[in-house]
Amino acid sequence: MSTLKKTALVIGLTLAATTVMAQPAKSQKHANKATEWRQGVFQLLASNMGPLGAMAKGKIPVDKAVVEKNAMRINQLSLMITDYLATDTRKFKVKTEALDKVWTDPALLNKKANALTLASANLQKVVISGDDKAIKQAIGGIGKTCGGCHDDFKKD
Ligand code: HEC
Repeated sequence: MSTLKKTALVIGLTLAATTVMAQPAKSQKHANKATEWRQGVFQLLASNMGPLGAMAKGKIPVDKAVVEKNAMRINQLSLMITDYLATDTRKFKVKTEALDKVWTDPALLNKKANALTLASANLQKVVISGDDKAIKQAIGGIGKTCGGCHDDFKKD
């Protein structure tokens, strides 16, 4: 499949992300596992964002193959966020930086996750034709959506 077609497919999928209703964790064990997986999604996001951030800052050269691959991964991970955050762990003692709002304002959470989906889809598009400057800008656009959600949903 051509890159262009793949991107079109991904942009189509961005419409599939829907608000997921929170469900309380059933036990301490369940809460621990849900927290681990939730943080795992963000760890993977960070690991894919790392090299992109370094490119945007000019610390390493822009490598379009890496940008294309990581933008696709970030896009796919963004679609998992609301599912992996749906288990409400507030009744249990878990090590977390998630604010209560994650489970009290699913509509806003969904909106913030969608912003990341769109920003990563944009990078997938820009990398096909864009110059380094446009690519760096699109990477910056993704970074803003990370911070934009953390402002509302994550402890500092
Ligand atoms: C829709 C909201 C949202 C978006 C978008 C988002 N995050 Fe987060 N992030 C969170 C929340 C909530 C936590 C706290 C999770 C916890 O501690 O249980 C978190 C935690 C993290 C952590 C710490 C994980 C850990 O092991 O404790 C990292 C790193 C992180 N995010 C990076 C990113 C990066 C990079 C992006 C963008 C590519 C991003 N996040 C986008 C909501 C978001």
